[in-house]
Amino acid sequence: MDFKINGGRTLDGKVRAESAKNSVLPIMAAAILADGQTVIKNCPAIADVVNMAKIIESCGVKTEFTGKNLIITPENSADGGFSKEISKSVRTSVLMLGALSAKYGKAIIPYPGGCDIGGRPVDIHIKALKDLGANISEEDGLIVCTEPVKGGKTVLSFPSVGATENAIIAASAADGESVIIGAAKEPEIVDLAEFINLLGGEVEGAGTSVVRVRGVKRLFGREFTPSFDRIEAGTYLIAAAITGGEVEVKGVKPENISALLAKLCDNTCKIKIKNDIIYIRGGRRRKAFSLTTGPYPSFPTDMQAQACALAAVSGGVSVIKESVFRKRFHHIAELNNMGAKARLYGDTAEITGVMKLHGAEVYAHDLRCGAALVLAGLNAEGTTLVKDISHLERGYFRMDEKLAALGADIVRV
Ligand code: UD1
Repeated sequence: MDFKINGGRTLDGKVRAESAKNSVLPIMAAAILADGQTVIKNCPAIADVVNMAKIIESCGVKTEFTGKNLIITPENSADGGFSKEISKSVRTSVLMLGALSAKYGKAIIPYPGGCDIGGRPVDIHIKALKDLGANISEEDGLIVCTEPVKGGKTVLSFPSVGATENAIIAASAADGESVIIGAAKEPEIVDLAEFINLLGGEVEGAGTSVVRVRGVKRLFGREFTPSFDRIEAGTYLIAAAITGGEVEVKGVKPENISALLAKLCDNTCKIKIKNDIIYIRGGRRRKAFSLTTGPYPSFPTDMQAQACALAAVSGGVSVIKESVFRKRFHHIAELNNMGAKARLYGDTAEITGVMKLHGAEVYAHDLRCGAALVLAGLNAEGTTLVKDISHLERGYFRMDEKLAALGADIVRV
């Protein structure tokens, strides 16, 4: 499946973000710990969520979509494990290490997958769980946990989002108290902690670099509405900027995307904020901007590719440095196929803005690469074919419909 885009339309209108993919996925893993049903509200049926549902179903958990609600019923769950193939389909399969070991005292899981954006090791996850008392070994492509987390202290060598989540989930049903120092501070970690606390757990300090988790004996299923997807919302803000359009993005906490908003202002966009609505008018003379990605609250690596697309049509030289996934630059060669003038120097892209891109056949190598190419296609003169949107659909719910509603000429072919 591909997206065909006839570029050059100015976007205008309102769009609403879904619940954050990166909140929903760890919440799905944590939900297996509960007695009774959990309902995740406003949940997008994107491929990552569907694959994560298959993973928890392999462990005997029932999942069902009713409209935009995902219902998770762990009644008949078991420590059965899941196949290598399904594990590779989504990065958060690794969170089942924390979840299954917390529930059953043991777990065997294959290594996880996710986007091909450079090496994605799990050493920080494993060290954290070991520091907290788990007994874990790696054998024949499997991660084996024979003793669960008991409580203790761990210091993360990098504020890994997944490792913080794995440690929180594993610790939430442990006998003792766990302290995670150097934790990731992403809003999605706060969502996970709020979810676990709603279920009866005791997680403190989420959103700061020190998280304390007191294990509890039982958690109880509840209804939860995660935060809106700040990366999806940010992508639509850039869609307005790159087409010189006027768009209202509803349902996002502006404070969660302030690093992006600052760059859009540098780019000469006009931004107004009212509660959870961000109004943006694209600048008439887009200006170059520079950024370095980093853990929250720095500029998110998940917006770097989309920012490169905007930089490609912004006057002057933008310098974009990637410090989280240093090889996350598949989009650069594809943008150059559309007339961009971008050069890579290791983990840094130097992009000299051109007036306009031109349509081309380009390939969506990974999720955010795909998003960047769609954005570039909206700006480009002529027709762009973004090939293989399967990666894109891992993270964006009905992107073509949402963009078409804003006036884009985009169809699925
Ligand atoms: C999460 C997000 C992803 C985002 C990333 C960084 C989800 C489902 N995915 O991914 O969209 O791009 O955070 O914001 O929430 N690392 C190690 N060893 C480890 C773990 C991580 O070296 O054990 C390295 C990674 O290779 C990477 C960096 O740490 O360079 C950040 O990874 P991490 O924060 O763990 O990202 P994910 O949780 O995989």
